[in-house]
Amino acid sequence: MPDLSGKVAIVTGCASGIGAATVQRLTADGAQVLGTDVDEAGGQALCNKVGAHFAVQDVAKRARWNEITALAVQTFGRLDILVNNAGIVSGASIGDVDDDTWDRVLAVNITGTMAGCRAAIPVMASSGGGAIINIASTTAMAPLPNDVGYSASKGAVRVLSKSVATWCAQQQNGIRCNTVIPGATETGILDATEAAMPGFKASVAATSPMNRLADPAETAAAIAFLASDECPFMTGAEMLIDGGALSIHPGF
Ligand SMILES: NC(=O)c1ccc[n+]([C@@H]2O[C@H](COP(=O)([O-])OP(=O)(O)OC[C@H]3O[C@@H](n4cnc5c(N)ncnc54)[C@H](O)[C@@H]3O)[C@@H](O)[C@H]2O)c1
Repeated sequence: MPDLSGKVAIVTGCASGIGAATVQRLTADGAQVLGTDVDEAGGQALCNKVGAHFAVQDVAKRARWNEITALAVQTFGRLDILVNNAGIVSGASIGDVDDDTWDRVLAVNITGTMAGCRAAIPVMASSGGGAIINIASTTAMAPLPNDVGYSASKGAVRVLSKSVATWCAQQQNGIRCNTVIPGATETGILDATEAAMPGFKASVAATSPMNRLADPAETAAAIAFLASDECPFMTGAEMLIDGGALSIHPGF
């Protein structure tokens, strides 16, 4: 297990799914964690359970980001790790997406990720460096016809991460930035899709070489590795956690 003792992390979208598993994993690996979410009751309960600190945050609200990074420093004294995990789907295709739906999914998934990086970088740099992990999706490579905003925003997360990574490397500020690309994972985000398309989860699992969805803890393990000092030369990289789903020829 990576040793994260002495490190301080912010994890967004901590109330459920991959975010909750990540708070649990980073805490177990020794980090002190500030979890944030729009879901106050769920986020507070998860953080109480694992000994993390919680704050309400809508990642799309840019001004809130400086308060969140300041809170991490005020509570724990430094900031070493940022996991930009909060994300939403929109369920709208190019045939029916309206302006509000498009604006909201991009605001949360890509503007929220940018604002998190922008606020965290100077704070991490003042602690001697750090690790940013942005959560994209296999839809960034194999997009969903029925969710144009989600797919486009996740594609943008991949490229944003590389731009952040290379700028930080040029600045020699000690900050690495990498992307984790989960495939279909057993979390709440799939429930809306399952409700709209009964059988969706089973059919995705059936087309996966491993014949199942991911457990959020499996994604959290990759995040913990990228957050640790085990991979000092990894920046601008992408880790696919998809059970081989994008590695197989569509005919098989
Ligand atoms: N589950 C999957 O199959 C899958 C696959 C690929 C990528 N992802 C990505 O993983 C990340 C986590 O999703 P999940 O699967 O755990 O879903 P989830 O719905 O279980 O969790 C998402 C969390 O983000 C929170 N959230 C939503 N909007 C927010 C906002 N504006 N500000 C702060 N918090 C907000 C929600 O309250 C929730 O707690 C997302 O970025 C998602 O796109 C998930």
